[in-house]
Amino acid sequence: MNRENFGTRLGAILAAAGSAVGLGNVWRFPIETGQNGGAVFIIIYILCIIFLGMPVMISEFLIGRYTHSNTAGAYRILSKGGQWHWLGKIGVYTGWFILCYYAVVGGWTLHYTYLSLINAFDDVKAAEFSNIFNDFVGNPWIPLLWFYLFMLFTHYVITRGVQSGIERASKILMPTLFIIVIFLAVSAVMLPGASAGVEFLLSPDWSKVDSKTVIEAMGQAFFSLSLGMGCLCTYASYFDESTPLAKTAVHVSVIDTMIAILAGFIIFPSVFNIGMNPNDVGVGASLTFISLPNVFQQALGEGSLMSVIFSSLFYFLLFVAALTSAISLHEVATAYVTEEFGMTRSKGAMLVTVVVLVFGSLCSLSFGPLSNITILNRNIFSVFDDLSGMILLPLGVMFISLFAGWRLDKELYREEISNHGDLPTPYFRLLIFSLRFLIPIAISLVFLDQLGLFKAIFK
Ligand code: TRP
Repeated sequence: MNRENFGTRLGAILAAAGSAVGLGNVWRFPIETGQNGGAVFIIIYILCIIFLGMPVMISEFLIGRYTHSNTAGAYRILSKGGQWHWLGKIGVYTGWFILCYYAVVGGWTLHYTYLSLINAFDDVKAAEFSNIFNDFVGNPWIPLLWFYLFMLFTHYVITRGVQSGIERASKILMPTLFIIVIFLAVSAVMLPGASAGVEFLLSPDWSKVDSKTVIEAMGQAFFSLSLGMGCLCTYASYFDESTPLAKTAVHVSVIDTMIAILAGFIIFPSVFNIGMNPNDVGVGASLTFISLPNVFQQALGEGSLMSVIFSSLFYFLLFVAALTSAISLHEVATAYVTEEFGMTRSKGAMLVTVVVLVFGSLCSLSFGPLSNITILNRNIFSVFDDLSGMILLPLGVMFISLFAGWRLDKELYREEISNHGDLPTPYFRLLIFSLRFLIPIAISLVFLDQLGLFKAIFK
């Protein structure tokens, strides 16, 4: 079969970085850092990236590039008739599943970009921002329309193919994202009172560090690097033989971590500028769509031109970050249906998009007309979110590391990461040790922790 590759090494790095840099960098990492001991958390996080995240990333790269196949095909080829082939299929469906709710949030970022542009937050009282958000997501139509628009962008890029779609989009969108992040961070740091925000983010506070901190850092590292399903494996199946796998993993991890830290420089100076308690800003959706619109208004002048620019750019940044991640999720499923069921790329992409539109609509409507459908006290959206984030992805990471550590032939592993002897691999034994023991043990701890959490919910 004729398979495309990425045309340039930079394109490959930017595509993989586009997958990694997403909502998680902005709406989780900065808050987790601030509340878990600042610089200490960042150091723990970086250690998690190096010792737990990168070995899995390198393994996913290797599995993809060695087989040059979609994720299901890749694991089937490497499992040689064994049961490990399930791992690839589960990865594909996990990605498909994540895309359903992730793209709904992508739609929200578009709506908030629009609201910022028309200066809709002028004169809104602090307490009203939660009504604005709840009315919006509870509306039966408007969030759906933005979600469909978001999927239209994603679908368009995917149908254009690997080089003129994904690679080209990454080469335009990622530099745009870097520029916006730097502009926003510099503007925020220049606000009066910003230094308290920077201090909150960076000053090391050992007293806030406990086992929970480490577990949060670990979970965040895996999610942020897009590990545990097929994203990086699928992208790596478009790498050519000379792509250095370990080095690419380093580039992607550095970019991802830098953007996450810079997001903190955008958020906390503004929060401190208006004298808000950083523990009250919330995380995730409530941080992004309820606290921050207010924070930006107050910090930059209500209804002022600067607040319009700052706020519009911030939501546009989120949109770009979400889009490149959504593209990577979509590609996993598209590569799967086209290669495994012999469809054309345009038909395969259409099938993936239609399924996402159906299930994504259910997620979107679960804040409004379908809010009475709940499982374990969660609406449909949260079922998708929690099932993937708390169960499927950690299991995915664990089994990928077991597969790469125990099942893959060590010689093959070394051959591949050294590009057939061209590159030195002094880290090889540490890598295998990490895959065999460190990562499976670390994830078991995450699960044990969650079991405690589940108990609290069931009681
Ligand atoms: N890493 C992205 C973020 O930080 C989200 C994402 C994209 C993802 N693809 C993934 C997470 C695959 C886990 C697995 O928002």
